[in-house]
Amino acid sequence: MRRAWMAVVALVSGASLAEPAVWTVAPKPRGFVSFTVEGPLDDVNGETRAMSGNFTVDAKAWGGSRGVFAVDLSTLRTGIDQRDEDMREEFLETRRFPYAILAIDSLTQASPAALTVGATANAVASGSFEVHGVRRAISLPLKVKLDSEARLVATGSFSVPFADFNIARPRRLFLKLGDTAEVTFEVAFVPKQAKPADPKVAAAPEVKVPEPTVTQVLPPAPKPKPKAPRKPKAALEYTFLFKGDEPKARGERLFHAPETGGPGNKMTCFHCHAKSDERSGLLLKDKHVRAANTLYNAGQRPKFWGGFTTKVGAAASICQKQFMKGAGLEESQEADLTAFVDAISPDAAPPLDYVSNNYRSMETLLRDPTGGDVAKGKALAETYCMTCHLDGRVGPVWAPGLYEPDWVVRRVRRLEGHQNKQMPPWTITRLPDSELRDIVTYLTSNPKEPAVFNRKKSAAP
Ligand code: HEC
Ligand code: HEC
Repeated sequence: MRRAWMAVVALVSGASLAEPAVWTVAPKPRGFVSFTVEGPLDDVNGETRAMSGNFTVDAKAWGGSRGVFAVDLSTLRTGIDQRDEDMREEFLETRRFPYAILAIDSLTQASPAALTVGATANAVASGSFEVHGVRRAISLPLKVKLDSEARLVATGSFSVPFADFNIARPRRLFLKLGDTAEVTFEVAFVPKQAKPADPKVAAAPEVKVPEPTVTQVLPPAPKPKPKAPRKPKAALEYTFLFKGDEPKARGERLFHAPETGGPGNKMTCFHCHAKSDERSGLLLKDKHVRAANTLYNAGQRPKFWGGFTTKVGAAASICQKQFMKGAGLEESQEADLTAFVDAISPDAAPPLDYVSNNYRSMETLLRDPTGGDVAKGKALAETYCMTCHLDGRVGPVWAPGLYEPDWVVRRVRRLEGHQNKQMPPWTITRLPDSELRDIVTYLTSNPKEPAVFNRKKSAAP
């Protein structure tokens, strides 16, 4: 026993340590803390090296060890920036709860009882784990090894069931993933040095290293990051057909104004409907295809919205409520929009039959939704989806690689379970299955995999 302890002290290069000694996280290499959440397509792995802590160990009877470790959660990286942001903002809420803290209060079954260089010792550690503002008792198998460089390497793993820690999974980027994170750590400790050996103060009484406490190991509070300036809005381009104060000109202004919708709305009629003749092609001057039919010649048709109404104004009101956060258009707005649609409806008998097409697509899920072509899908997404999904427009910027194929199909076709709030349905007449398949393949394909993503766990150093 005595000999083992001496071995440790000898390694501590002359520092005279009271027993038990306090060890602290090594400067470099210090190891890692990582987590894995299982998913149907890919597991999500995250990792950080930003940790600190104290481990009080008596090497000749290490069963009496105690320790507290903190991890800065805002530094966890999964390899995809957008997902990391979601994880911080929604999942772990790191602004409110910046750290995960593992406290080891006692060890049992320590074997062997003394630590010797090069030999791995096992024990069951009990204590608490705190994350997302919830602290719970935990116990985990712990391995400790004194390596030849006088470092104490501790390894272990434990499960964090999200529900136990009040963590709600953000549905957007963690769809259908498992409900538990498996946490693994491998942390190297070095003896906490007393003050630098200055010969002048060598005779001074020895400083007693205090017992670790949670507050002691907490890294300093993170500095609030200044908000990045928003990019200028990528506004849709258009020219007005009508000027002045006639009803049709007022109607056209309503057609292009987000204010035609309710509070907080950014969507305009023009995000979904063209005002030009689509018989010469669906691609507009801005290089996008709109999700819904053009309003050109729509004024001549007898029924709208699949027969719900015979009036243009009422049809527009349905859209305003469905897609523009509105509570229904005012009578004068309906009249102005009707005047505008009538003014762009020159043909007495428009050949296009929209109504019967509208609901045809809402029947089945796409078969083999990921069997398409990634490059084609990216180009098609530019055409079909970037009226809204371009940075600064009305829809969110995508995070390709993080979506469930079926869920994207449901959104685009507006099938049951789609979760759309403002996003319009796409019918097969405007977006055929084959092209949707390419888009879904692109959206669910893995982006470039950074090293940390899906990285294999390293062996002990
Ligand atoms: C988010 C997309 C979206 C927005 C915004 C939107 N609509 Fe629609 N609108 C649709 C869809 C989808 C339909 C039904 C199918 C179709 O016409 O393609 C529709 C149908 C209509 C119809 C009936 C056409 C028909 O053939 O049944 C009219 C008229 C109309 N919208 C006018 C408007 C006006 C005016 C606005 C702005 C106040 C507006 N819409 C905003 C998506 C939208
Ligand atoms: C008229 C505007 C508009 C068009 C066109 C549009 N979207 Fe959207 N999309 C939205 C809006 C707004 C949201 C977010 C609100 C909601 O769920 O409706 C959204 C959300 C999404 C989401 C969820 C994104 C996330 O990370 O949460 C996906 C996926 C998506 N759209 C796919 C598509 C695809 C694929 C297309 C092209 C075929 C498309 N969208 C075209 C407006 C649009």
